[in-house]
Amino acid sequence: MKADTFKVGIIGIGYIGKIHLEELSRVEGVEVVAIADANAELVKDIGTRYGIKGTYSDWKKLINDENVEIIHNCTPNNLHFEVNQRVIESGKEIFSEKPLAWNHERPSELWIGKRNEANETFFESPILQDKSTQHYATLPSGHPMGYRDAIVNLFRDYYSAIRDKREGHKTASIHPDFIAGHNEMLILKAALESSKQGTWTEVKYNDV
Ligand SMILES: NC(=O)c1ccc[n+]([C@@H]2O[C@H](COP(=O)([O-])OP(=O)(O)OC[C@H]3O[C@@H](n4cnc5c(N)ncnc54)[C@H](O)[C@@H]3O)[C@@H](O)[C@H]2O)c1
Repeated sequence: MKADTFKVGIIGIGYIGKIHLEELSRVEGVEVVAIADANAELVKDIGTRYGIKGTYSDWKKLINDENVEIIHNCTPNNLHFEVNQRVIESGKEIFSEKPLAWNHERPSELWIGKRNEANETFFESPILQDKSTQHYATLPSGHPMGYRDAIVNLFRDYYSAIRDKREGHKTASIHPDFIAGHNEMLILKAALESSKQGTWTEVKYNDV
C-alpha cells in the first residue's frame, strides 16, 4: 500500500456497504482496510473474499482501529446518528449514507417543476451539461451511465475534498455535507405538509 493511500473502514456491509466496497476500488488512492457488521459470518466471508484484514462485529472496534482514517457509515437509518457522532468525536473523517429519496427507475432524468411556465425534464448527456458538471459524465452521449457510476463520482469528489483539506487548500469539490442532508429532511417535511394541506408550503431552512 502506498503511503499516501487513504485507509478506509466500512461499517455495515449489507446491500449498500458491499457497493461502497466494490466501487471504492475504482477510486484512485483509496483502500478498504477494515469492515464491521453485526452479522459476524458475513464479515468473515467478505473479509476473506476481498482480502480485508480488519474484520469486526462491533462497529466501535472499527472506529478504534489505528489503521482506519476514514469511515463509511452504511448502517440502517436508526444507527446513523450514533455511529456518525462517535466517528466525529474520534476525529476521523466520516462519509455517511442517508435515507433513500430518489427515483431509481429513471436515474438519468431530472424533472424540474415550475410554477409559472412549463415543467422541464433534463436528460443526462455530456453535450447538454454545464461545464461545471461535465466531468461527471464519464461515458459519451448515448451510453447511459448507471447508478454505480454516480456513486463513484461522489466518492471522487469526497476524497478530493479530503486531499485538499490535508494539503491545506480550499477545496473546489462539491459534495453533500451534513447541512445538505439536514436541508433535504426539511424539504421532505415541507413536501409532506404540502401534500396534507393541498397548498404550496415554504421550506423553512434552519440557519445552521
Ligand atoms: N445511496 C444509495 O443509493 C443507497 C441505496 C441503498 C441504501 N442506502 C442507505 O444505506 C443504508 C443501509 O441500507 P442497506 O440497504 O445497505 O441495508 P442492509 O440492511 O442491506 O444493510 C445494513 C447492514 O448493517 C448491519 N447492521 C445492522 N445493525 C448493525 C449494528 N448494530 N452494528 C453493525 N452492523 C449492523 C446489518 O447486519 C446489515 O448487513 C440506509 O441508510 C439506506 O437508506 C443508500
